[in-house]
Amino acid sequence: MTPSEAVIWHDVECGRYAADLPLWHGLAEEAGGPVLDVGAGTGRVAIDLARRGHRMTALDHDGELLAELRRRAGDLPVDVVEADARDFHLGRRFALVIVPMQTIQILGGAAGRALFLRCALEHLEPAALLVATVAVALEGFDAAEHTELPLPDVAEHGGRLYASQPVGVRPEDGVTVVERVRQTVSPEGERTEERNEVRLDTLDADALADEARAMGFDPLPSREIEPTHEHVGSTVVVLRAPS
Ligand SMILES: C[S@@+](CC[C@H](N)C(=O)[O-])C[C@H]1O[C@@H](n2cnc3c(N)ncnc32)[C@H](O)[C@@H]1O
Repeated sequence: MTPSEAVIWHDVECGRYAADLPLWHGLAEEAGGPVLDVGAGTGRVAIDLARRGHRMTALDHDGELLAELRRRAGDLPVDVVEADARDFHLGRRFALVIVPMQTIQILGGAAGRALFLRCALEHLEPAALLVATVAVALEGFDAAEHTELPLPDVAEHGGRLYASQPVGVRPEDGVTVVERVRQTVSPEGERTEERNEVRLDTLDADALADEARAMGFDPLPSREIEPTHEHVGSTVVVLRAPS
């Protein structure tokens, strides 16, 4: 069965990223208990951790992506929760809460992050970790000024080709806009093209640590994930819940 367009584009643009997986493996191993994956999408991280024997809860506000996650998870130990990261109340606590891939930067600015941090506190065991990755400062670029663009992310489903080409990164007021052109080519050679924008809140690790400290977290030293050909590097913000 061919997945929905939403699932395909999500997988094209996020699904093959793997540079952060060793980080999540180590943290889940150290935590030794249930893990909550916030903004889980189609389960890139949640399913990988479940395969390693970790009891996972995958939370996302997009039911279409979660339906695919549930299908892919099969019999693995993954609970699926459709909820907004800024307003969820599961009535249980986790040994680790993770926020991979800059999802912390699409929660609606400082006010949205504060709501999320409060929810995270409500769901962490004493002294357990909340770990979120923040994109390192994105350099602006514009396709019009570049002869060599970053390589597109590509996939093929049922004979249809999908390509997502980053064409611009530009700072705006309080956000960085990452612009892509999404193209498909049908088996008959018909082409479609649309623009897509992701608006990442401007945020660095120190600012997130300060926001979290103000809510009762104890920020621990941050770590780095190196950039890859397709993805920028990230700073890993590690926040310990009160004991
Ligand atoms: C960049 S993707 C990351 C997906 C996955 N964690 C990964 O690393 O491959 C961001 C995900 O966050 C979800 N998301 C964005 N805002 C959200 C919110 N307010 N509440 C819950 N999920 C949200 C999106 O639906 C999407 O699946």
